[in-house]
Amino acid sequence: MAPKTGLWFIGARGSVATTATVGALALTAGLTRRTGCVTDLAEIAVARPPGVADLLIGGHDVVGDSLPKRAEALADGGVFGIELARAVHDGLTQVDARIRHGVTADDGQRDAIEQVSRDLAGFRAAHALDQVIVVDVATTEPPVEITPELSDLDALERALAAGESPLPLSSLYAYAAFRAGCPVVAFTPSPGPRLPALTQLAERVGLPWAGSDGKTGETLVKSALAPMFATRALRVRSWASYNMLGGGDGRALADPVTATSKTQSKGKGLTEMLGEPVDGPLHIDYVEDLGEWKTAWDMVSFEGFLGTRMSMQFTWQGCDSALAAPLVLDLARLVARAQQVGESGPLGALGFFFKDPAGDGGHDLGGQWRALVEWCQQIGGDR
Ligand SMILES: NC(=O)c1ccc[n+]([C@@H]2O[C@H](COP(=O)([O-])OP(=O)(O)OC[C@H]3O[C@@H](n4cnc5c(N)ncnc54)[C@H](O)[C@@H]3O)[C@@H](O)[C@H]2O)c1
Repeated sequence: MAPKTGLWFIGARGSVATTATVGALALTAGLTRRTGCVTDLAEIAVARPPGVADLLIGGHDVVGDSLPKRAEALADGGVFGIELARAVHDGLTQVDARIRHGVTADDGQRDAIEQVSRDLAGFRAAHALDQVIVVDVATTEPPVEITPELSDLDALERALAAGESPLPLSSLYAYAAFRAGCPVVAFTPSPGPRLPALTQLAERVGLPWAGSDGKTGETLVKSALAPMFATRALRVRSWASYNMLGGGDGRALADPVTATSKTQSKGKGLTEMLGEPVDGPLHIDYVEDLGEWKTAWDMVSFEGFLGTRMSMQFTWQGCDSALAAPLVLDLARLVARAQQVGESGPLGALGFFFKDPAGDGGHDLGGQWRALVEWCQQIGGDR
């Protein structure tokens, strides 16, 4: 059967999108295992999301390197085997033909919104898709100041109509996606759909969205460990985190202003999970040589009964794109299901997947898992 759900990547030729595309093609052809695919666990599969084979991939990017070339480079870097990249070469070429040139900060925003909406509508029509889920995996942007135009939808519409360009690019894409009837997944820490004017738009057009910033490594471990200290009544005195990474993401985060988006979203949960403010310095360094690999070193200093001082350290060495890619597919499938059953607004139940979850729900991984399972049971029972 032909795929019925579109998955549209913003940043379609980046490491995460390319790995997710290789993964989707490999899963569909039965060439790899479902390791890392949360949606295929029995507790989540009850939601009855579309299968990976039901997804048709397209997207926007601003670089010209073809998807097969990007896949070869990732295979060279050890993210997956070169045989796998070769086995899905034809599929990658087909996806590549569906990648449109993205918009940039130099484009006028009214025209750029129209172009993105037109590309999305064209993709849906050309392949007779029932729905298209837009997933932002583009380069991280710095945080923005919330101006009156970004706080209120009507003010934003007036500014756009007057030919102004008030939106950061991630939010421009989210705006165009909502206007084209597409739910959005914000996998990056960029502003995207989180600006108040954008959340109002999602409510107004009745679309679901999920975000933000995929929780794939150090923050994932933190959100599993912090509740342990809290529920054992151990007092965490400080939690210092040091990250080193390469790749395109590492290069973008080498800019200290852009890195603020990441350090803010990574730092959000600790106080909430520990029940009190804790000194938690967090540092990110770009080490080109590490390529797609990331090393995080955390040092937790804590206090037990009678004030006894102790510490714990962990080192996480992850391949970021291999950790992120299955989550991207999970999110596209679950958000597609949410749209099918008529959900709208921020999907708090998907907080399990994010460093800075939008909507209701906390940061504690166990609590997030229970909320996700309950939501999946609920939406699995609808229509
Ligand atoms: N890998 C992980 O574990 C992980 C976890 C959480 C969040 N993220 C986020 O995912 C994003 C992607 O990470 P990556 O490693 O794939 O980075 P990457 O640099 O490899 O890919 C980013 C892609 O975005 C494209 N892009 C830039 N500007 C664009 C525009 N205006 N329109 C369309 N495309 C544009 C770039 O050309 C590039 O191909 C980053 O923001 C990162 O912070 C990654």
